[in-house]
Amino acid sequence: MLYHIVQASNDLDFGLKAKAAFYAAICPIKDLPRVILPTGNTPAPFYAALRNDPTNKPFHYLQLDEYHGLSADDPILFSNWLARDVLDPLNITNRMIFNSADDPASEIPRIHQWYRENSRVDLAVISIGENGHVGFNEPWTRFDSLAHMEEMTDQTWDTNCKYTGREVPRKVITLGMAELKLADQTILLVRGEKKAKILADALTGEITPKVPASYLQLQRNVIVIADAAALSRMPS
Ligand code: GLP
Repeated sequence: MLYHIVQASNDLDFGLKAKAAFYAAICPIKDLPRVILPTGNTPAPFYAALRNDPTNKPFHYLQLDEYHGLSADDPILFSNWLARDVLDPLNITNRMIFNSADDPASEIPRIHQWYRENSRVDLAVISIGENGHVGFNEPWTRFDSLAHMEEMTDQTWDTNCKYTGREVPRKVITLGMAELKLADQTILLVRGEKKAKILADALTGEITPKVPASYLQLQRNVIVIADAAALSRMPS
């Protein structure tokens, strides 16, 4: 197994360690680095650390996942969330984002086309759902799946409604496992006891689409940034 675990002592430390791993991954890259970034609660300390650091190496942001069917200015869109939290403060202007309101019959092929033409992904920063989902690749999504539409499970949908305080669409657009696997380096961010079991399953259990994050056992260059609670069920 090729992953390396970095334990953080608190949220501030988590953010700083994630930021250090992030810049260590992208600073050596000569072309504009292409970077997938997640939304959710987990990366919040990481984004705070990025905002507070003047290093600000430019990169090309690649969207991981998005709600379907909302207008482009809806504040709950993940693209707008990331813009507020990271991309605008860091002045990141190159953005490959999904068009939530567009017909999936044209939007999904547009994403496939983009990845056919730009097949290099330098870094994927991801977090993990309690059921092992990555992006919106829910359990049993095939490891060779391309970007596609998904229907959230009830558990994922509940979590997502809590982000916004309102009912979010159940239909979502997500990069597939195949695009995630393109990443030359991957940083997995995990915080909290609620993720402890699935983290242990993903990193040390069977490699199976039932636990989408278990694909990480087959990836090269994986760094896991996690707090003690998230690591509490890892075998010693
Ligand atoms: C959400 C998002 C994922 C995110 C994951 C974990 O549903 N689709 O991109 O990484 O679930 O979210 P959280 O960090 O809030 O636990």
